Amino acid sequence: MSFEPKILGFLCNWCSYAGADLAGVSRMQYPPNIRVIRVMCSGRIDPKFIFEALRVGADGVIVLGCHLGDCHYLEGNYEAEKKFDMVKRFLKLINFNNRVRLDWVSASEGARYASMITEFTDHIKTLGPSPAGGDNPDDEILEELKAIEEAAGSDRMRALVGRERKITEQENVYGEIVSLDKFNEIFDLAIKDEYNRHRILGLLEKESKSVKDLAKELKIDSSLVLEHMVTLKSRGQVDFGELLGITPTFYKL
Ligand code: FES
Repeated sequence: MSFEPKILGFLCNWCSYAGADLAGVSRMQYPPNIRVIRVMCSGRIDPKFIFEALRVGADGVIVLGCHLGDCHYLEGNYEAEKKFDMVKRFLKLINFNNRVRLDWVSASEGARYASMITEFTDHIKTLGPSPAGGDNPDDEILEELKAIEEAAGSDRMRALVGRERKITEQENVYGEIVSLDKFNEIFDLAIKDEYNRHRILGLLEKESKSVKDLAKELKIDSSLVLEHMVTLKSRGQVDFGELLGITPTFYKL
């Protein structure tokens, strides 16, 4: 039996939803795999919506908004672009970045909508079923998606996404403008750090563990885990648990 992907679409009310409607009333043909959620603007899409959709088994997620410059709320789709960029960078860590797409469809582009959905559905078919979906989802992938969802919602990531333009376009208190390359370097490092920190928190949810155990499970260096524990402790997210011989364990607060 051929694989029929489950695709979730977030469509902005003013352009893309109207474009989809036009495709429908014009009787244009496209695969029936997409389920649509109408939102007022693509800028309304919290990254959490996308991660959650993948976590509950969507094989692909597509976000469609007005063309740049045409957003009903002026800059909503520019905001969407920034947030989506972060979503893709996080998903790249677990090789899920090809399962999501952001694009633009206007109210008069019914044919563009139909061909876009056809092409995206075919693309997801070539990727195959999501390991996070079906009757027996991969537990490790689910844990990784949960860590990603929480990491993307952290204050640090929200601040970086929200202030990218200010940081890269305006002088800071030292009279310097941070270059886009430098910003991207900081951004990628923050993504990796926050992902690993939330993976650690996920593992500590079940039982307290030592740095060595965490390093082994996460397949990263113990010295790196120790650095993360210092940060998590200073944030009040973990504390010392019982001693195993002379080795301290940590638990999640
Ligand atoms: S209203 Fe369509 S993207 Fe903002």
